[in-house]
Amino acid sequence: MKDIYILAIESSCDETSVSIIKNGNIEINTVVLSQIDIHKKFGGVVPEIASRNHVENITLVIDECLKKSNMTVDEMDAIAVTYGPGLAGSLIVGVEAAKTLAMLYNKPLIPVHHIAGHIYANRFEKELQFPLICLVVSGGHTEIIYMKENYSFEKIGGTLDDSVGECYDKVARVLDIPYPGGPKIDEYAHIGKHSYNLPIPLDDDSYNFSFSGIKSAVINLAHNEKQRGNDINVYDLSASFQDVVTEILSKKTMRAINEYNVKQLLVAGGVSANKGLREKLKELCEKNNVDLVVPKFSYCTDNAAMIGAAAYYMYLDKRFANLDLKIKPTDKLN
Ligand code: KG4
Ligand code: ZN
Repeated sequence: MKDIYILAIESSCDETSVSIIKNGNIEINTVVLSQIDIHKKFGGVVPEIASRNHVENITLVIDECLKKSNMTVDEMDAIAVTYGPGLAGSLIVGVEAAKTLAMLYNKPLIPVHHIAGHIYANRFEKELQFPLICLVVSGGHTEIIYMKENYSFEKIGGTLDDSVGECYDKVARVLDIPYPGGPKIDEYAHIGKHSYNLPIPLDDDSYNFSFSGIKSAVINLAHNEKQRGNDINVYDLSASFQDVVTEILSKKTMRAINEYNVKQLLVAGGVSANKGLREKLKELCEKNNVDLVVPKFSYCTDNAAMIGAAAYYMYLDKRFANLDLKIKPTDKLN
């Protein structure tokens, strides 16, 4: 069979990224231009600034990826792009660039859902074995998804309030840890001990999550201790927070694996980089004979390689978009 090359573009938040992917799981090259340092001083992503930076960088990133790969747009079989969900002003830059390339070079245009991209980042690790369960943990999403087959996403539970990444970032902020705080809390958690008493989030029979209670508990604890002039042990508080959060994520995910009788678990999204979560799931999956697949660290946070991986199946099914493709900043996966 002929090799399929897809040029993929991702610009849904604060990373401008372009990748060339061969046959869905071979990375020719990926360029990621992160704006983290620009947004850091504001304590989070500023949408207008993110959008302006995407505009300034998108053509440079496309050119760099093609040059590094020693390939031309003519050699591509399709152009893929994240159309949603994400920040409107950011998504539109990638989508307009993709539409322009598709029109100029007469290539099919493939519209990829950002979360489908995160899920398919696991294709770089190994073949997916259906049916499977995927735990999606990112800055915008916390969901348990059942996949009967390729490109079929059934949400069996999700957060009722904050996403887990959002919760990490807000807790980090109150502990004066710079944005994005998730990776730092993870690092501190490995230094400290679980010694603070925090509420267990929504420990019921559903597959839903609720993180607003534990977030408020940490914020109140930090404020009260500050008011009393007491020091907080950020290492121990990070360890306590991470332990409680990863415990409930792992517990509900393992229950879903049992109930749906699947043999493979995928983890997807920025928080899949969390070492505490990986360790807990690894132990539980080994015990229960479940094949755990986690993306390598560079594919956990936003990148275009994952968009190219997801787009491959859409290419095979000819699920193309017209050149009037619109962004969908709040689109659901299912
Ligand atoms: O998937 P992602 O790059 O963006 C969205 O699609 O939302 O996820 C970003 C989120 C941020 O909230 C960041 O703090 C979190 O992932 N994150 C982590 C870790 N690395 C990134 N959270 C906990 N532990 C980590 N090691
Ligand atoms: Zn993401």
